[in-house]
Amino acid sequence: MNNFEFSNPVKVVFGKGSIARLPALIPERSRVLMLYGGGSIKKNGIYAQAIEALKDYPLTEFSGIEANPHYETCMRAVGLAKREKAAFLLAVGGGSVIDATKFIAAAIHFDGDPWSILAKGATVERAMPLGAVLTLAATGSETNERAVISRVSEGRKLGFATPLVFPRFALLDPEATYSLPANQVANGVVDSFIHVIEQYLTYPVNAKVQDAFAESLMRIIREEGLKVLEDPLNYDIRANLMWAATNALNGWIGQGVPQDWSSHRIGYPLTVLFGLAHAETLAVILPGVMQYMRKEKEEKILRLGNVIFNVTEGGADMRVEKTIAAVEMFFRDMGLKTRLHEYGITEANLDALTGPIDQLGWKLSEKGHIDTKAAREILTLRL
Ligand code: NZQ
Ligand code: ZN
Repeated sequence: MNNFEFSNPVKVVFGKGSIARLPALIPERSRVLMLYGGGSIKKNGIYAQAIEALKDYPLTEFSGIEANPHYETCMRAVGLAKREKAAFLLAVGGGSVIDATKFIAAAIHFDGDPWSILAKGATVERAMPLGAVLTLAATGSETNERAVISRVSEGRKLGFATPLVFPRFALLDPEATYSLPANQVANGVVDSFIHVIEQYLTYPVNAKVQDAFAESLMRIIREEGLKVLEDPLNYDIRANLMWAATNALNGWIGQGVPQDWSSHRIGYPLTVLFGLAHAETLAVILPGVMQYMRKEKEEKILRLGNVIFNVTEGGADMRVEKTIAAVEMFFRDMGLKTRLHEYGITEANLDALTGPIDQLGWKLSEKGHIDTKAAREILTLRL
């Protein structure tokens, strides 16, 4: 196991009715700016619950944060927060709203051009405190210190991370996820499954706790994920999926182990240039990364096949093949597409898709093996 230092300070309040706990979590009389997306919270009653809970606070709202949040939208919220002298930011939504709120929290106090936080990794010295009410189990953003923001005019989707943007609290009410359309539920299942994969499917370092924890999460996400589409109003299924997704990216399973975020990084341009949802990009690319890295990842692929997909028969090569096929089949069973051509993307688009990786000089994978050329080969495998 590799050395690590770890702290996750996010207070989690989990369960039915937890939104009513807001007044106990936000400092009294703080000027709150509540941020949300395109309006789902108004239809499913979450907005009304939040407004009721915040009735004793001076409150301003910012709505319209889009999926895969835009830099320009975040900057409008920064302007509003400054004008209103907000002291606390409350994100009510999925990963996009929470990510946007984290960036806004950092940009409010940033001296200079806030784009440099994303584009140049500029250091964030201060951030406004924020809290999160989660409505979509997927990203883990509610209990982590990272965010991903898009600048469509530049064709860029970029992330940043700083402990300063850990939410002060995350309210997780599984009932808040009942209103999600089936495709968003499926996206959340696939995204959280792949978060575990990106921290597990590298090479062994004898990290028994992390490996066993990761395998439990994958088993639960797969089993409950397949059930939730049939039984969407089942509280226990929703609760287990929500807590699993949080644990998939709250830092615990990634400590002391190599990680490989290639599928995520190669996927960003698919969202910015072709509008695929975040999980849709991953379902296409991960089988390609597994294929391309099959030798480097062989031991872990075999273990994944055995423990999660019951692949036990045949020689190593055959079991690797079967495991990659089983992973892809799981995504298809969740209703996601797994090939680029299903989105109308062809070889002619590959330069555009690998361009950002080239410009940023990314060397991806646990060993830095995946450069622009390798990314192109991976995408070619997925045409
Ligand atoms: O905008 P509204 O109207 O709220 O609708 C949203 C949105 O259209 C809707 N939705 C959310 N909760 C709902 C609901 N509809 C009905 N009922 C509810 N309870 O779902 C749509 C998608 O929401 P979004 O927040 O975009 O989804 P998700 O949570 O998957 O977040 C995706 C974003 O998170 C980033 C992705 O790149 C992407 O930008 N990620 C953030 C990470 C992190 N911070 O650690 C890690 C991830 O790998 C990921 O990159
Ligand atoms: Zn993800």
